[in-house]
Amino acid sequence: MSSSEINVPTGGFGIDIGGSGIKGAPVDLTAGRFAADRLRIPTPSPSTPGAVADVVAQIVESFADESGTGPVGVTFPAVIQHGIARTAANVDDAWIDTDVDTLFSARLGRSVHVVNDADAAGVAEARFGAAKNTKGLVIVATLGTGIGSAVLLDGRLVPNTELGHLEIDGHDAEHRAADSAREREDLSWEKWAHRLQTYFRTVENLFWPDLFVIGGGVSKKSAKFLPLLDIRTPIVPAELLNDAGIIGAAVLAAEAPEAPATPAV
Ligand code: BGC
Repeated sequence: MSSSEINVPTGGFGIDIGGSGIKGAPVDLTAGRFAADRLRIPTPSPSTPGAVADVVAQIVESFADESGTGPVGVTFPAVIQHGIARTAANVDDAWIDTDVDTLFSARLGRSVHVVNDADAAGVAEARFGAAKNTKGLVIVATLGTGIGSAVLLDGRLVPNTELGHLEIDGHDAEHRAADSAREREDLSWEKWAHRLQTYFRTVENLFWPDLFVIGGGVSKKSAKFLPLLDIRTPIVPAELLNDAGIIGAAVLAAEAPEAPATPAV
């Protein structure tokens, strides 16, 4: 079946804002997969709110026939409290206290729901991926430029947990254990796994999760480091990989109770 034949009423739209690329696709919310090929546009530099809003609009407009009329879900790599960015660990400081929901909704002329990137990935993995049938407490950790976290209890998200910023041995955990630390310091898989072990042991001792799911680009290479970890909790790679953010954002937008009304344009 070609993507143009898919016209499910359960369709949503998701966008993933990352440090190097902004990606979007229509999402089949029932199947938990893209309903058409995604579009990727490089993240503008500097990645100010206005410049990023223009790219988000460009992506939605390029799917005019498939993006539907419902709320658009967007991921962002920062704390997002009720649509407002509260931190900027790895993004331009101009985002702090920006009402991203309102900015993007006004730019697009339709309702937009912005969520933390790891939260979106976590929801997608809980609904459709590696944690699909797991009851109890699941922690999804995304290993990339930073460490993102999503905490889910019986599939329900506790938003903005920010476990990548736990202080361990006097360091912000993500500065030692994110995939960017492995690359920056040219760490062997063994050395990096040792840091991951310290990190996940700390998290498991605080939360006692039933399952860890590892996301982020490096999860494709999980065979190189997951078997080296000696921790109590079962730990598995993400299944939706790069698609998780877009799918999770679309799901959260479709289910958001407080989605703002579409502003007049
Ligand atoms: C940010 C989180 C984000 C994570 C992954 C961290 O530095 O504080 O909000 O989820 O990076 O992008």
